[in-house]
Amino acid sequence: MIPQKKLHDWYLIHKRDLPFRKKKQAYPIWISEVMLQQTRVNAMLPLYESFIKRFPTPESLASAEEEEVLAHWKGLGYYSRARNLRKAAIFLVQNYNGSFPRDLASVLKLPGIGNYTARAVLSIAYNLPLAVLDGNVKRVLSRYYGYSENVLGSKADTNLQKLADDFLNLDHPGDHNQAVMELGSTLCLPESPKCLLCPLSDSCFAKIHQKTSEIPLRVKDKKQIQLTAEILVFFYKENILLVREPKMRFLKEMFHLPYGFTGEIPAEAYEPTPFFLALRESLLVPNPKPIGQFKHTITHHKMNFSVLTSRLENRSRVETLAKEFAVESKWVTLSTLDSEFPSSLATKVKKFLLYLEP
Ligand code: ADE
Repeated sequence: MIPQKKLHDWYLIHKRDLPFRKKKQAYPIWISEVMLQQTRVNAMLPLYESFIKRFPTPESLASAEEEEVLAHWKGLGYYSRARNLRKAAIFLVQNYNGSFPRDLASVLKLPGIGNYTARAVLSIAYNLPLAVLDGNVKRVLSRYYGYSENVLGSKADTNLQKLADDFLNLDHPGDHNQAVMELGSTLCLPESPKCLLCPLSDSCFAKIHQKTSEIPLRVKDKKQIQLTAEILVFFYKENILLVREPKMRFLKEMFHLPYGFTGEIPAEAYEPTPFFLALRESLLVPNPKPIGQFKHTITHHKMNFSVLTSRLENRSRVETLAKEFAVESKWVTLSTLDSEFPSSLATKVKKFLLYLEP
């Protein structure tokens, strides 16, 4: 029997009886997957039940006050996830009549939804052939295929996603994804995996070669640098400010949204430029509230970005500052932002801008 079929048979017998598995509906599956990213199944179940009872549909979530949504998220932490759920629900109601889109590109545009959540919901609710990758899946696949390189290394996710795609059961993508995750959380444990009970043990590289304690290899890159950053979106009418600053540590060759590192600065090269500080000081309200936050990695730099926005009455102040600091500037529209600023940073920021009130 092929391993995917063995795994599927195992799953059908051993799968946990969970409320969000009863019906193949995108909305409850989406909520459950977001909750499961930060909490184990047993801990999230009571919160899931009360959340779904109060907000049973995208419409009910979209029309609720943010405060009430946050109150129902209590105990789960990471409140930005709850804020994003509500924002995404509003978007679904406004643009898709409250239903969940059925293609990866549209789902990835929703606030708070990244590759994992999009693939999980689309495969489980609609049986689309999209393999998921989370911590459990990485452990199962690296052992099964004998992927002995560092799973925390920079190429690991790309390599492991290929293995996940190859391993996907095209007849039952949703069950398959859940089976791999379930295997990882119940049998293929980090320490002392229960290989005797595992449906894949006959063909598992790590089991056959007695390497379950060596694979997955998890080596933290000691040289990683953590940075806190702000990225500024200045609107003037329909236009957004881009700048080119030769002094910047990153992105200096291209026009980009003004950004600077604001937390602890590990070395002089990461100091915010005088231009960024001047923009921030003179054009933003004191202590502005970010419209969103996201993570971004450039080589060994792990950055936490906050997105700050401001609407300008006129553009002369910005242009005078730019001249003063010998910075090039230009104005682009939201629809051309990612072609004028061709970086995944622009895509990440744009995701928040699409949900701004006019
Ligand atoms: N972990 C996160 N989502 C899961 C799911 N749907 N099934 C099993 N484990 C999971």
